[in-house]
Amino acid sequence: MYYPEELIEEVRVRNDIIEVVSSYVKLERKGRRYFGLCPFHSEKSPSFSVEPSKQLFYCFGCNKGGSVIQFIMGIENLDFLETLKFLADRAGIVLPEPEDKNEREKFRLRKQILDVNREAARFFFSTLAGKNGARAQAYLKKRGLTEGTIKQFGLGFAPGGWNELTKNLMEKGVGKDLLLSSGLSIQTKTGELVDRFRDRIMFPIFDIRGNIVGFGGRVLDNTQPKYMNSPDTPAYNKSRELYGLNYARLSKSRKLLIVEGYMDVISLHQAGIDYAVASLGTALTQSQAWLLKKYAEEVIIAYDSDTAGQAATLRGLDILEKAGCNIKVLIIPDGKDPDEYIRNNGPEKFKNLVDRAISLLDYKIGTEKNMYNLDTLDDKLKLLNSIADILAAHDNNIERELYAKNYAQQYGISLDSLNSEIQKRRSRQLSREKAYSLSKNTVPEREFPELPKIDSRFGELEYMLLVILCNENRLFDKVSKEYGLDAYIDKGARKIAEKLYNKLEQNKTCVLAELLNVLDSREASYLVRVAETNSGLDDADKAIQQILNKLEILKLEDMQKQTLEMIKNEEDGRIRQKLGLEFSKRAERIAELKRLM
Ligand code: CTP
Ligand code: MN
Repeated sequence: MYYPEELIEEVRVRNDIIEVVSSYVKLERKGRRYFGLCPFHSEKSPSFSVEPSKQLFYCFGCNKGGSVIQFIMGIENLDFLETLKFLADRAGIVLPEPEDKNEREKFRLRKQILDVNREAARFFFSTLAGKNGARAQAYLKKRGLTEGTIKQFGLGFAPGGWNELTKNLMEKGVGKDLLLSSGLSIQTKTGELVDRFRDRIMFPIFDIRGNIVGFGGRVLDNTQPKYMNSPDTPAYNKSRELYGLNYARLSKSRKLLIVEGYMDVISLHQAGIDYAVASLGTALTQSQAWLLKKYAEEVIIAYDSDTAGQAATLRGLDILEKAGCNIKVLIIPDGKDPDEYIRNNGPEKFKNLVDRAISLLDYKIGTEKNMYNLDTLDDKLKLLNSIADILAAHDNNIERELYAKNYAQQYGISLDSLNSEIQKRRSRQLSREKAYSLSKNTVPEREFPELPKIDSRFGELEYMLLVILCNENRLFDKVSKEYGLDAYIDKGARKIAEKLYNKLEQNKTCVLAELLNVLDSREASYLVRVAETNSGLDDADKAIQQILNKLEILKLEDMQKQTLEMIKNEEDGRIRQKLGLEFSKRAERIAELKRLM
């Protein structure tokens, strides 16, 4: 293990499973549990459940289960260490430098890249200030940027030669490997290193701690490609960063405005809108949504109103909605981007747009409305249906009612008919859910997709023992006395028992979710499945006793078989007789145990 167990446990505990799962799956509360459509297999009615008190998930359909750790491993397709980092980031926990050699190497490389990036940023900045930077200076001025802004964002200029930066860094002792792994240099066919960024305005990309993790570089004219960006490196992951967040998170407004490009963020900050960030031309990702939610009470999305921009808006909205952000949409007239709009209309006009940003519902319905011609009855009907769909899916009752009233009026349909359409959809949904929860107990047992190897006779019982022991730590003395570690027949169960016994011996407590920290997804799924199928047991003492009895019977039966074999092969009559006595004593014990069941 690379990290101390307590740290892994802290990462788990600080990531509430309901919150985490909710950003991927729409959950609805039913009694002690939440239900939703399983993200791990395709289904029409929800069999995926999450139990907040236990911090476990389990799908009755595909039998996948585990803690928040296995959930993220599965859904983000990350390995254990990556999952730990992911969840630690999410909870704001800083993981120490790991003990593993590979990891330590990665950590060191990351640090070196950050250092060489800072060196490169200095080089670009001073080139911009020098005589070779005159053209770039003029360009930035033309785009309305002040000295202060250029300084604040650390803008620079990459000169036009082939290897100016590479040469400069090499002279400072930076090695070839580092130049390549930082993405600052590229290797030509002949093995020479040349600059990745040539004759471009340079935008350093900062992470929230102010490290320079990468660069974007823009041409000064219309040549293509307009931007060159750093590749993903050990220090930079495009889909995790938000440009400008290092400043925007300090804004007093508690808002974040998401735009598309470097120039938009910079213009906005210069115009006093200090809460702008950019997703840098890619669709918003889940990790970015979490970052946004962490730093803002309200997230306003302002993508271009061209079609690509609109599609990006819709995708982004979905992700933000799932992450539980309070979202608004800002529509910029005439297909302009924020930078252009501010240059043409001034900051005040843009601030007005921010104030008039519309709710998510209004945006969705507005988009629908644009697809129809409201003069025809047919289209009006279709729109009514879409509105009903959208509103029916909206969970807040008060908002739903208010919006229904508003839309009915706005689109000239009667409130009654709109309401009855919404109700129809909602009750259909409810009855589907009810039907599901009634049939829950009879959901056909599917083939378990990824079963660990389990001893066919002892495995399940031993796993049950462990599950009950997790629920009722107080039974440890009894269990360990009657079923010590060496008693375990199933290899997997034994491994888990070692962990559990070890913890409980030190008078620590252990819940099932914690025990899963160190298991792979197959073992975790199996353990949660055993927990689920035995969740009806309320008398733990009795249940434990029964399992111990069953295990004893199995062991005695094994011994009986052996004894029979021995008797068969034994020539000495006296020994045969002794064995026979043992056999019948054991038979009595077995009969006694069976009577107790
Ligand atoms: N982008 C990119 N590569 C490209 C084009 C765009 O990485 N070839 C990214 C950049 O992060 C850019 C963002 O997408 O900032 C938005 O693109 P665009 O609107 O074309 O650029 P602007 O930032 O508006 O740049 P400018 O105003 O200088 O044209
Ligand atoms: Mn632009």
